[in-house]
Amino acid sequence: MFTTTKIGHMGFWTQDLDRMEEFYVRVMGFRVTSRSGPGAKVPGGASLFLRCDRTHHEVVFFQAPEGAPSLYSETGNSLEERKVGFQHVAFEVPNRMEWLKALKHIKNCGVEIKYGPLVHGPEGDGFAEGSGNRAFYITDPDGSYIEIYCDIAVFEDEKVGWGDIL
Ligand SMILES: [Fe+2]
Repeated sequence: MFTTTKIGHMGFWTQDLDRMEEFYVRVMGFRVTSRSGPGAKVPGGASLFLRCDRTHHEVVFFQAPEGAPSLYSETGNSLEERKVGFQHVAFEVPNRMEWLKALKHIKNCGVEIKYGPLVHGPEGDGFAEGSGNRAFYITDPDGSYIEIYCDIAVFEDEKVGWGDIL
């Protein structure tokens, strides 16, 4: 057996790399690590690698073929819909102050908060095994849900999990 620790990055097809770059830089505060054109040796031939940490990329977009369908085109997307496959990608901020700053900044960018802000599984609500993180959700220009969160429960020992805490 081998060990995995955390999601490192997620990749998406998009019809519009420019629109995604504008959103992830202006609204999300990401930085562009590399952007390649149509002839690049990557899936789709054109790509946009974005980082929010010291790693090369946390999210990457590839140019989708002309006319490729959207996951959400028929419905406009909402968290109440149930579809198989991708549901959301979560980006962590270091603490509550940064999370509140993110909430204010994103609202000031004119981006709708689709769900939250809220605390997942807060103490005393009858769901003791909740993750405890503060979270709110938005969608990127392609309709993919993004969670911005902080203060998620962290286990002292990955093998033990909750242990005898609960
Ligand atoms: Fe989440």
